[in-house]
Amino acid sequence: MQEIQIHTKVFAYDNTSDPDFKYESLLRDAKSALSKSFSPYSGFRVSSAALLGNGEVVTGANQENASYPLCLCAEMVTVSAVSSRYPGQPIVALAITVEHSGKKLETPVSPCGACRQTILEFENRQGSPMRIILQGDGGPIYELESARALLPLSFDGDSL
Ligand code: THU
Repeated sequence: MQEIQIHTKVFAYDNTSDPDFKYESLLRDAKSALSKSFSPYSGFRVSSAALLGNGEVVTGANQENASYPLCLCAEMVTVSAVSSRYPGQPIVALAITVEHSGKKLETPVSPCGACRQTILEFENRQGSPMRIILQGDGGPIYELESARALLPLSFDGDSL
C-alpha cells in the first residue's frame, strides 16, 4: 500500500487592497454581474467574470427555472458565453462571487462539482492555466493557480 497525498495551493488575501492581488478589477466586474442573476427560488446569486487572452471580460450569472433541475450555474453561463462570443480565446482568469438574500457569506464559495468539470474541460482545451478567484460577500479572497487545483483526480477526455 502506498499513500498518495494531493495538495491544493490556495493564495488567501484579506482584501482586494493587498498589493499582491492582481484581479481587483475582474472581481469588481464579477460583482457587477450579480445583478444579472435570475435566482428567485434560491435567493442565491452567483456571478463570474472571465478575463480573456485578448483583454476582453465576459460575465455571466446563474439563471434559475421553476423546474429546479433546469437551473444554470453562473460559471457554465460565463464559460459558454466565452466559447460562443470569442471562440478560441483562452480564459486567463475567472473570478466567481456570490450574494445571498438571506445571509452574509463571508467565506469564499467554491464552484459546484459540475462547474469544476466544465471549467477544467475549458482549461484543458486552451492548454494554459486559468487562475480562479473566489470571494463571498466581502471577506477574504482565495486564488488558485489553475482549474486543475479545483478538481484533483479529474475525469477527462483522455480516458475515452
Ligand atoms: N450555483 C451556481 O451558479 N454556481 C455554482 O457553482 C453552485 C450553484 C447556483 C445554482 C442555483 O441557481 C443556486 O446557485 C443555488 O444552488
